[in-house]
This record gives sequence, C-alpha cells and structure tokens, in this order.
Amino acid sequence: MNIVVLISGSGTNLQAIMDAVEGGKIQGNLAAVISNRPDAKGLIRARERGVETLVVDHTSYGTREAFDADLLQAIEHYQPDLVVLAGFMRILTDHFVDHFSGRMLNIHPSLLPEFKGLNTHQRALDAGATEHGCSVHFVSSELDSGAVIGQAKVPVEANDTAQSLSEKVQQQEHRLYPACVALFCSNAIRLSADGVLYQGSLLPATGLDLTED
Ligand code: GRF
Repeated sequence: MNIVVLISGSGTNLQAIMDAVEGGKIQGNLAAVISNRPDAKGLIRARERGVETLVVDHTSYGTREAFDADLLQAIEHYQPDLVVLAGFMRILTDHFVDHFSGRMLNIHPSLLPEFKGLNTHQRALDAGATEHGCSVHFVSSELDSGAVIGQAKVPVEANDTAQSLSEKVQQQEHRLYPACVALFCSNAIRLSADGVLYQGSLLPATGLDLTED
C-alpha cells in the first residue's frame, strides 16, 4: 500500500506512523509527506527518515478550489492507496473529499460524534464529560462526520485541565492512528455505503474500541 500523509504542524502522529512503518507494524510504503505550511516541524521529522516531502502552500492560492486542485494533483503523483490527514488544518472541498472517498483517514481529538470541530478538550471539560479520547474516521464532506474506524478513551479526572487532557489524548492518538492505518493496509477495514466494514461485518457508529487495557 502506498501512503501519503498530509500535515500542517508538529507531526507527532506522523512520527508514530513512520515508527510503525519502520517497525513493520504497518504493511505499507510511506511515499510522501505533504504540508500546506513550509515551517511545519513534521517536514523535518519526515526528512530525517528519508521520506520525500513537498509543500503546497495554501497562502499562494486565491481560492480554496485552486489550492485543492493542486494538492490533489500533488498527492495523485504518488498513486496512493491511502491518504492520511495527520494534523492537517485545512477544510477540504467536496470535490477533493469525494475524489479520495474510502481511502482518506483523519484523526480527531474527541470521542465522535461528541465535540466535532476545535477546542475539544476544553469543551469536554465544560460539558462535565467523564470520558474523553480520540477517533480515527474516514473523511466525508461534512466536517468530522465520516464513518468511525476506531476510538481510544481516556478518563477525565477532577484535576484535569485542557492541557493535561490534550497530553493524555495525544498519547492515545499515537497508538490509535498507527493501529487504524495498519488495519486499512491489511485490508481488514473498508468503507461501505452503510458504514465501516471490519472483516466483513459492519462496525457500530463509534467503531472499534481500541482503548489500551
Ligand atoms: C492532533 O491532536 C490531532 O488530533 C489534531 O491535530 C493534532 C495534530 O498533532 N487533528 P500532530 O501534528 O500530529 O503532532
């Protein structure tokens, strides 16, 4: 499987995925890492691993459509079986999302369908949630609403802050994302019209519970 990873920032999820590829846990080839920001730290992580990098800078484009069209071409150059959004902070056009339907994943720092969008940790605290976590899902045209492959949960303690929750959730992200990419690359999961099929059976809306024991 050929994998292209899209990033905008620090790339800790990218790092976890690169480690899993190198360690043989993901049966795939990391063809390229593409960033919309030239200063993304994740680009350095990729170069250190000898992975090809590319910048498609959204600030050089007048419209979202023009940016997405070039980004799509840049990705397709690598003929990916899978596109992984790892902290990629741009909203994508429907055309782009449809083009990669069933082969593009995202990680979101909440237990979807709770807390779509930004500031998820503070919102979980404000809502008095006792559990929080992260979700990996297929990307669909509605933001953070695609079919969920897997989730990992963390308990919310009385003394948690948005910062402490974010650290706990990120630790889980670094386990959950490689695990879900590995499932995709081994053909264990695929998107169907009804949701995610795991070894041929339809998963519940919250996906697999991949919380660490
Ligand atoms: C992660 O917390 C992810 O859930 C969110 O963006 C962050 C990316 O972090 N979508 P990193 O760039 O992988 O370190």
